[in-house]
Amino acid sequence: MRLLVTGGAGFIGANFTHQTVRERPDVAVTVLDALTYAGDRTSLDDVADSIRFVEGSIDDADLVDALVGECDVVVHFAAESHNDNSLDDPSPFVRTNLVGTFTLLEAVRRHRVRFHHISTDEVYGDLELDDPAKFTPETPYNPSSPYSSTKAGSDLLVRAWARSFGIEATISNCSNNYGPYQHVEKFIPRQVTNLIDGVRPRLYGAGLNVRDWIHVEDHNAAVWTILDKGRPGETYLIGADGETSNLDVVRALLEIFDLDADDFDHVADRPGHDLRYAIDASKVRDELGWTPRYTDFRAGLEATVRWYRDNEAWWRPHKAAVEARYAATGQ
Ligand code: NAD
Ligand code: DAU
Repeated sequence: MRLLVTGGAGFIGANFTHQTVRERPDVAVTVLDALTYAGDRTSLDDVADSIRFVEGSIDDADLVDALVGECDVVVHFAAESHNDNSLDDPSPFVRTNLVGTFTLLEAVRRHRVRFHHISTDEVYGDLELDDPAKFTPETPYNPSSPYSSTKAGSDLLVRAWARSFGIEATISNCSNNYGPYQHVEKFIPRQVTNLIDGVRPRLYGAGLNVRDWIHVEDHNAAVWTILDKGRPGETYLIGADGETSNLDVVRALLEIFDLDADDFDHVADRPGHDLRYAIDASKVRDELGWTPRYTDFRAGLEATVRWYRDNEAWWRPHKAAVEARYAATGQ
């Protein structure tokens, strides 16, 4: 199989590329990545000899057409992915998440290759804290931020191209990932690297917001399950029953660092901050037989802390710029 991975120098895409090289020696991987502030070529150092890396943007129609024409399957991770950045400047989100996905879909339509679109649970908006409901594939779209609305739009483009043009596409909407190679702008790596630097964690607002955490390896194993067994035209929700409040995540990290449970600061809340996400993953579990393996969140957090301690050379170059951006918004 010749596989094109977009966004393979980012957090989830790099882990997916590692997993693929490790577990699927029959797959020839090409990574297409624009190396934005969020992409890091060194995340692929360990597999550099086993893949082809192309630096370029998914909205470059000629480049995309050439690369899609050479592959059998596209897995599309590339995106602008951070909510806070989308509140500051939505324009790259529209360009990459909407125009970039459109550009890929047109190439897929011309070359008739299989397409898997990586998306997020945020397209469904948020849930009340005491609501027993979880997101299902039938939940109506109701995105809150420029990030999640452009991801929602990209999902709808995929659905339309599947129905109107018959492209062979699947979509997965996953909950919050954690693990190695996650950019230090994101919640868990930001607090972990702050703690390594002796800086107190920062909680937006009261910290009661709930995220449904899943280890990145479990997300990527589910993506491979969908590539192997998923039905074209279908949407699969991926989650590992990992609902945890931000406050509880910070308290767990403080414990791992042997600090007092109150050694953190409340900072300005995110405008429009989604309250709670929760995934009902029964379709991918029951129909396709996927099950998560990293279900001990505390053990996963400890392993992630170890990874950031052991890989300071990877994250250190990004840290100061990220904290300068947060300082401008009082966060
Ligand atoms: P990330 O920001 O870490 O990585 C994104 C990658 O895409 C980077 O390598 C970047 O250089 C690349 N990229 C950005 N614009 C590009 C363009 N125009 N052309 C080519 N490459 C470009 O993001 P991530 O957290 O790894 O997320 C990957 C995908 O998974 C996204 O589609 C995101 O919406 C989705 N997702 C993320 C999570 C999560 O918790 N992080 C959860 C569910 C879904
Ligand atoms: O649900 C899936 C989504 O998860 C993905 O689609 C996004 O790409 C990914 O970034 C993530 O979005 P969130 O906005 O949930 O993740 P983030 O890491 O930015 O924040 C997680 C929670 O932590 C959120 O409630 C905001 C809060 N937070 C974040 C930061 C950076 C803090 O309290 N303090 C912080 O310093």
